[in-house]
Order: sequence, then C-alpha cells, then structure tokens
Amino acid sequence: SACSLSKTRSQTVPGEGNPTSRIMFIGEAPGYNEDQRGTPFVGRAGNILEQLLQSIGLNRGEVFITNMVKCRPPKNRDPQVEELNSCSNFLDDQIIAINPSIIVTLGRFSFAKFFPDLSLNRSRGHPHLWNGINIFPMYHPAAALYNPALRPRLELDFSKIPQLLDNFLKADLMTSETAPDVTERQLGLFD
Ligand code: URA
Repeated sequence: SACSLSKTRSQTVPGEGNPTSRIMFIGEAPGYNEDQRGTPFVGRAGNILEQLLQSIGLNRGEVFITNMVKCRPPKNRDPQVEELNSCSNFLDDQIIAINPSIIVTLGRFSFAKFFPDLSLNRSRGHPHLWNGINIFPMYHPAAALYNPALRPRLELDFSKIPQLLDNFLKADLMTSETAPDVTERQLGLFD
C-alpha cells in the first residue's frame, strides 16, 4: 500500500521463480494478465520471454522473474517516479535474498535503476558490473510486439546468456552458498 497503485490493482505481482537462481530478470510493471493472475510475464510479452528462455535451454522455473513495480499501473501506463521509488525497497530486498550473478534488465526502466545515465540502445547486449553483479541490459520483450524488427536483437542478446553464466559460474564457483553476499551496504541502501 506504499503508493496509489495499490488502490487500482487486483492483486500484487511480487515475482516468481527459483530463489537460488544465479540469474534474475527484471521487467517494468505487471499488465492486465499479470494483475489477474498475480504472476509476472504471463501475457503476450511473457510468451516472448518464455520463447527466448527456451531458445537458450532455460524455463521460467529455473530463473527468477520480477518487475520494477509490483502492481499494475492503470491502463498499462509507464510507472511514475514516485511509484518506482515507493516500490524499490521490495526489489532491493529481492536482489539481496536471491543474490544473483547476473541480472537481466528488460527495458529502460530496470536498466535505469542500475545505470541511470547510460543509453539502453548503446548498452544492450553487454554486461555492466554493478556491486559485484553483472547487469545485462536488453530490450523489453514487448518491444518485439510493437516492432518485430527488434526480435532478432533480443534473440542475439539472449544467445549470449549461456556463455555469460558459464563464465561467471566458473569464475566464482557460484553456488548460492559460495557466492559473495550482496549486502545492504553494497546496494547503497544505508549510505
Ligand atoms: N511487462 C512487464 O514488464 N512485466 C510483466 O510482468 C508483464 C509485462
């Protein structure tokens, strides 16, 4: 109930998946279908995300999927700054709890959480280190619905994930037990 989206939502959409996954996906906000079901990425953008995951041999149960805001903005409008701010502590806690090696940001809102000054067009498909976590930006899957020409770019960016995971797993002998913890201090929450 931290912001007014709580008044128009049907239910919260906190996120779902494997809480010990080394990889986490962060989208923008729930849409109509997500609001109805309480699950992220279950509509048309979700279909594309599932196909992209499948193309690299993963399914949604093996990763963790969430959004910048946990309630649907009315008429699927963009989340506003106050809404993003009111909801950010939930996402910060999820990042601390899951402690992933890679965070794939889907679209401009989630990339801007970590790198507010960088251009998504120029940064997509390249890992960016942030507090010991590799942020891997890409376009939002819904972008391919509006502009099918973007689909090959999403596919190309996704195709890099297995190698990245492999490298990071090897580098850090990553299991959820041995991975370094992301602390509140690293996230800058108390600075
Ligand atoms: N788009 C998002 O960003 N998140 C969802 O959960 C669904 C569509």
